[in-house]
Amino acid sequence: MSRKCRVLNMALWTGLVLSLKGKLASAQTECDAERAGLSMLQAHLAKERNVDRSRYHWASGRGNFPNYSVSPHPAPFKVGGSLAWKWHHPLGRFATLTFGTAIDADSNIYLSAADGIRKFDPHGVTLWEYSTLPAWVYNAPALYDGMVHSSDTDGYVFALDMQTGKQVWRTRVAESIGQDNGFSMAHAGVVVAACDWRKPSNFDKANHKIKGLNASTGEELWTFEPDTPVWNFLPLFVEGGSFVFQDMTGKAYRVKLDTGTLVWKAGGLEGTWTDGSAALGPNGLVYTVHNVHPMPITEISEYSPGNLSAFNVSDGELVWSAVTPRPPNNAPAIGHVKNLPGLSVVMPLCQQVRPGSTCDVEVYDAETGSLRWIFHGPTQTGLLQAGDAEGIAMRTSHGIPTFCLPNGWSAPAIDSEGTVFVGNEEGIFYALRDLDGDGVAFGDDEVALYDTRAAFAGSSSPAIAPGLLAVASCDSLFVFET
Ligand SMILES: *[C@@H]1O[C@H](CO)[C@@H](O)[C@H](O)[C@H]1NC(C)=O
Ligand SMILES: *[C@@H]1O[C@H](CO)[C@@H](O)[C@H](O)[C@H]1NC(C)=O
Ligand SMILES: *[C@@H]1O[C@H](CO)[C@@H](O)[C@H](O)[C@H]1NC(C)=O
Ligand SMILES: *[C@@H]1O[C@H](CO)[C@@H](O)[C@H](O)[C@H]1NC(C)=O
Repeated sequence: MSRKCRVLNMALWTGLVLSLKGKLASAQTECDAERAGLSMLQAHLAKERNVDRSRYHWASGRGNFPNYSVSPHPAPFKVGGSLAWKWHHPLGRFATLTFGTAIDADSNIYLSAADGIRKFDPHGVTLWEYSTLPAWVYNAPALYDGMVHSSDTDGYVFALDMQTGKQVWRTRVAESIGQDNGFSMAHAGVVVAACDWRKPSNFDKANHKIKGLNASTGEELWTFEPDTPVWNFLPLFVEGGSFVFQDMTGKAYRVKLDTGTLVWKAGGLEGTWTDGSAALGPNGLVYTVHNVHPMPITEISEYSPGNLSAFNVSDGELVWSAVTPRPPNNAPAIGHVKNLPGLSVVMPLCQQVRPGSTCDVEVYDAETGSLRWIFHGPTQTGLLQAGDAEGIAMRTSHGIPTFCLPNGWSAPAIDSEGTVFVGNEEGIFYALRDLDGDGVAFGDDEVALYDTRAAFAGSSSPAIAPGLLAVASCDSLFVFET
């Protein structure tokens, strides 16, 4: 990298990420008393409907408990020829930043965006919008018991009625919730949310606390404070009333869902930061990622190795670990990948926001950590990631964050055929598989693509329903149909 690029790059990370992305909107002014009355009525109505809790096609940004990141339905491999519709803000492609997707039992799609949450029918008609401005929503939404759960940067965790988009409850759990792209998750009557965005951490401000809330009332149940703050928080629920997650150093935690008490913690590397998250397999293993190079981020190159570790969910024992040849700055997906026996770990690798740096996807054996295939992804061509510089003026004038500045890849998802779907920071959305078993995904039969022209946030994950795949780039929602 030239000196000019290095200087610009450093300016981006230290200046833009920490100050512009970190600019908080002013306090939300809403009539809480009126809302409280409405909430009770809606909580009552939601209860009356007696919703089947398990039937949503893709209930959270990472899919469904207990087999996250995989779908029992096939999605179209030839993504290039199967776009059914796309949506961006009616005032322009850059009038909001779009993030995470969930899909209900009727294939309606819920989209989180910097300015709030929206619901679309399967054909692209907007059914409702819930605005959070001037606060921003960064997390992927979760569907649970007739409600959409998420949180905003003013420190509110909230629940909306899935049918109407009206607020059922809203609880302020901290002064601020981080502007990182995490996942709102709910299970067994509890919403788990990260909050308390402040210094210090290995990456400036970060979320220091995790709270459990009653999913039907918003009442706070407990607080858990990890050893190091979390980034792109993703709690994954384990059978029997607990959940696992990782902090920014890759340390894995298993915590009880009803009380917030620690069961075990393991691994991690002090002084490091990743915006990767954990993954959970149906094989009793939880996978975490961390960088090996300590901060600051400006010292980490596209070739700085990382670490992918598998721990036993029951006791936290390290089962295997592998060195990744590039930073593992994303959540992996665990599932059955086409033409491979057993389970695999799909691991996107990239040091993002680095002009000239290349991003890869590696697939490992989920039981042993041995490498199975690799996809050599694109190289960042611009100074910023695709679509980011173009939208600065419009985003600023609409009161939303100036930049997306996301991970190098979206979180990946795997369909019932074993095809891997993942979006890259150069704007390309990929469908990947290794048909000939040569260890590389390469060529038209193995790599299909669609150019969205914008990068993908960390809370963006392909969401799969029967005959349908929805994924959001940093500015638009794309829906592919079989
Ligand atoms: C989850 O995956 C495991 C292993 O692939 C399978 O046995 C189980 O039936 C799946 N569970 C659900 C609810 O799909
Ligand atoms: C949530 O609140 C409801 C109503 O008070 C109560 O019945 C339920 O047991 C609570 N759930 C949890 C997990 O605390
Ligand atoms: C990966 O990190 C873990 C700690 O989380 C450590 O125990 C292990 O030795 C590391 N593995 C490799 C291959 O460096
Ligand atoms: C996890 O540990 C338990 C004992 O604590 C053991 O029975 C089980 O086989 C281990 N699972 C794996 C996948 O290593």
